[in-house]
Amino acid sequence: MTFRTIESDGPLRLVVVGAGGMGRAWTRAIQADPGTELVGIADLFSAAAESAAAETGIPDLAVGADAVELVRRTGADAIVNATVPEAHHPVTTAALLAGIPVLGEKPVAASVAEGLSLAAAAEHTGQLFMVSQSRRYHRSLFQVKRQLAALGAVGFVAVEFFKAPHFGGFRDEMASPLLLDMAIHQFDMARFLLDADPVSVSCEEYNPAWSWYDGDAAANAVFAMEGGARFTFNGSWCSPGFETSWNGAWRISAERGTVLWDGDGEPDSDPETSVADAEDPRHEIAGSLREFTAALRFGTEPMGRVHANVMSLAMVEAAIQSAAQGRRVAIDDVLERSYEAALATERNAEVLGVLKSWPSVRDALSRKKTE
Ligand SMILES: NC(=O)c1ccc[n+]([C@@H]2O[C@H](COP(=O)([O-])OP(=O)(O)OC[C@H]3O[C@@H](n4cnc5c(N)ncnc54)[C@H](O)[C@@H]3O)[C@@H](O)[C@H]2O)c1
Repeated sequence: MTFRTIESDGPLRLVVVGAGGMGRAWTRAIQADPGTELVGIADLFSAAAESAAAETGIPDLAVGADAVELVRRTGADAIVNATVPEAHHPVTTAALLAGIPVLGEKPVAASVAEGLSLAAAAEHTGQLFMVSQSRRYHRSLFQVKRQLAALGAVGFVAVEFFKAPHFGGFRDEMASPLLLDMAIHQFDMARFLLDADPVSVSCEEYNPAWSWYDGDAAANAVFAMEGGARFTFNGSWCSPGFETSWNGAWRISAERGTVLWDGDGEPDSDPETSVADAEDPRHEIAGSLREFTAALRFGTEPMGRVHANVMSLAMVEAAIQSAAQGRRVAIDDVLERSYEAALATERNAEVLGVLKSWPSVRDALSRKKTE
């Protein structure tokens, strides 16, 4: 499963789609990276695209409502899809089918079923679709992983996430704001640390009496991971006092010791390990942007390729199902049901053909670029 690389000497020319808070963060990241050039901004609302374009300070920056049309007009190499989750599938599918590689915001799509459709669309078109799971790109997280490598097998990964933000807007009205909008970051970081995918989850979701959210703003989840390790997520979005960092506070217990990380500063290990400093992956979206650029130029496998990333959203859906049904949920059940839904709803005949050719969802998702 290879993807097409781009051969050009100049910077990678990018269109940002979705001119909201995150789209604007992407325009700044692209402008700050000498390997990339911002050539256009697309948004359904022309006023949003125009005001984001004005903020960049780039004279006469191209704007439009449709990403593919804007790429054709500007001759861009790729898009960054920073639209709302419901628009991830249509915008990314249209780009891939038009021969345009995509770097997408998390979550991969609004559902695992849509994520599978996007993985199949990427295979069909041979274009790279990478999901930016920005919290992976943190030098201290890379350092935690180095320290763990010196401490033997990992048995237990625990993260505590306690904050009290008053967002206003859609998060205050969502059914599962913490699990849907936030926990995917910690779930994905646990997969990164363990180099393992999830097997099953037991989860409870609830809303503390004083919560200012309509939906459940707190959750406790226990995941069984491949290889036998357990990963626990305990979190709340309405816990004032001694708040954790946005990455959460981590304790990782391994065969010969433990690593603690507050999610911000340097990690500590007991016993101390004498590992060299981890490379700096660049911070957050600057890191995923660099990885996307390198993948398109040199054909290297990025860690957020759609096939690998779908499993992080599967963890979220499985946790929500477990809480709703009051039982342990197997990730394979979520994948199978999502696969059936993807087969039933796929509208593109070639993408459907790719989906049908998969021996199993897990096999298809774990295939590497070199295979
Ligand atoms: N990595 C992170 O830490 C992080 C942080 C915040 C948000 N996000 C993610 O970034 C994405 C965007 O979030 P946001 O907070 O910027 O949302 P937002 O609502 O502020 O902005 C989204 C923009 O997309 C536009 N849009 C919607 N559908 C479109 C379409 N079909 N074509 C073109 N434009 C379209 C909207 O008009 C809006 O301007 C979400 O997926 C969110 O989960 C990630």
